[in-house]
Amino acid sequence: MTTTILVTGGTGRLGRALVPRLADAGHEVRVLTRREREPAAWTWATGDLRTGRGLAEAVDGAAVIIHLATTNGRGDIAATRNLVEAASAAGRPHLVYVSIVGIENVALGYYRAKAACERLVEESGLPWTILRTTQFHDLITAICDVQRRLPVTMMPAKVSFQPIDVTEVAERLVAIAALPAAARVPDLGGPQVRDAAELARSYLRAIGRRRPVWSVRLPVKAIRDYRAGHHLTPERAVGRITFEEYLSRTVHARNTR
Ligand SMILES: NC(=O)c1ccc[n+]([C@@H]2O[C@H](COP(=O)([O-])OP(=O)(O)OC[C@H]3O[C@@H](n4cnc5c(N)ncnc54)[C@H](OP(=O)(O)O)[C@@H]3O)[C@@H](O)[C@H]2O)c1
Repeated sequence: MTTTILVTGGTGRLGRALVPRLADAGHEVRVLTRREREPAAWTWATGDLRTGRGLAEAVDGAAVIIHLATTNGRGDIAATRNLVEAASAAGRPHLVYVSIVGIENVALGYYRAKAACERLVEESGLPWTILRTTQFHDLITAICDVQRRLPVTMMPAKVSFQPIDVTEVAERLVAIAALPAAARVPDLGGPQVRDAAELARSYLRAIGRRRPVWSVRLPVKAIRDYRAGHHLTPERAVGRITFEEYLSRTVHARNTR
């Protein structure tokens, strides 16, 4: 059945994997973005979640809203509140929110903002579904990339990640969008729990860069929480694409561009 689906954050890392899949599944897809975009197989809705500009038009007629947009900070709370208000004024769309595993147990401001957004969604009065996932493979490569001008790559000592491929999160969201609202659904974790330094070495090998990786002990509460593994879900290691498989796909794509 064709459904009109609004995706916020559809131009981001996860959104770029999700939007074409929703369109391929036959849905009428509308993507909220702050900027003018080239025509695509879906409709662009120009607007801004933080100011509320364009939101009434963006949500109009949407049966499902998949909320991925993030300001990577506390701005997410106002953005989510504005979205909930616009969606509630428009009708009773199914609101789907993507969140992060373990947010209540890791002392990061961003995670506190995500938890506040979850509460806004739960208390919105709209039918809702929240899917929590572990870190995306792309986040690990981004952590390495920001250090590219340094002679070493530093990773937090004794910290592991369980990264997941955005294509697998996207596939799960396509399935969720076709189902009735389901409240908190089971977490989605990547296939392997891996030492952070080992992931960095794999990445550097894949891009052909030779440099040491240092495991650095950081006396920070959030890192202690990561060391305790609160952001991991080994019992939900349902992703299949490993970090190395992701690297061989993306580095190959980058080299052949
Ligand atoms: N990255 C991870 O490892 C990870 C792990 C678990 C869960 N998540 C969650 O997954 C979701 C997607 O993450 P991502 O890494 O794919 O995001 P991302 O690449 O950082 O993309 C951010 C998106 O948010 C949109 N956006 C930002 N400010 C906006 C505003 N004021 N109004 C409207 N749109 C705005 C941007 O759209 P335009 O620039 O086009 O306006 C962009 O599409 C987030 O909720 C994140 O917390 C991420």
